[in-house]
Amino acid sequence: MTIHRLLYRSDMDLAGTAAGIRQQIVEIVRISEARNAADGLTGALLHTRGVFIQVLEGPMPAVEATFERICCDLRHRRVELIELVEAEGRVFGEWSMGRISADQRIERLVSRLPAGEDQVPEAASAHATIQLMRTLMVSGPAQAASSEQLPGTLRGPGG
Ligand SMILES: Cc1cc2nc3c(=O)[nH]c(=O)nc-3n(C[C@H](O)[C@H](O)[C@H](O)COP(=O)(O)O)c2cc1C
Repeated sequence: MTIHRLLYRSDMDLAGTAAGIRQQIVEIVRISEARNAADGLTGALLHTRGVFIQVLEGPMPAVEATFERICCDLRHRRVELIELVEAEGRVFGEWSMGRISADQRIERLVSRLPAGEDQVPEAASAHATIQLMRTLMVSGPAQAASSEQLPGTLRGPGG
């Protein structure tokens, strides 16, 4: 089966206290895990300082349909597609939707990522972002992500 991988970023549009916002994000991930497992999708959602960065991977029709729903979601805005490519395999095969809650160390790492098309080709920047997210998912809360990080759930069959 051909796998496509989509990467986007958006600005959070969530109101409330820090704890309330965190709870809303946990809820987004909970719904996404169930939907994505049923649709054969895997991926990860990173949230940091009002920004979402999400990777979705799986069969093109499911990636497209899910991204269309995501784009209409009023819990974020300025959704910018960074990359949509045919992939050799899944980077986040173990997670129907992993959540990465960025702490200060991650923010420092993210700020060091290559940025802007004028500096590096966009594909190289997308690749660096995806690899960082994969590293953060695998290394777990103790080493990289904050203690809020959830392990994510295993994807369902058929993906
Ligand atoms: C940042 C963000 C990421 C999301 N990621 C997913 C996702 O990976 N899969 C998914 O099914 N829905 C995701 N959603 C939720 C969808 O926008 C939508 O609410 C959900 O799929 C239910 O759609 P429905 O009410 O039309 O059935 C995300 C929402 C936000 C704000």
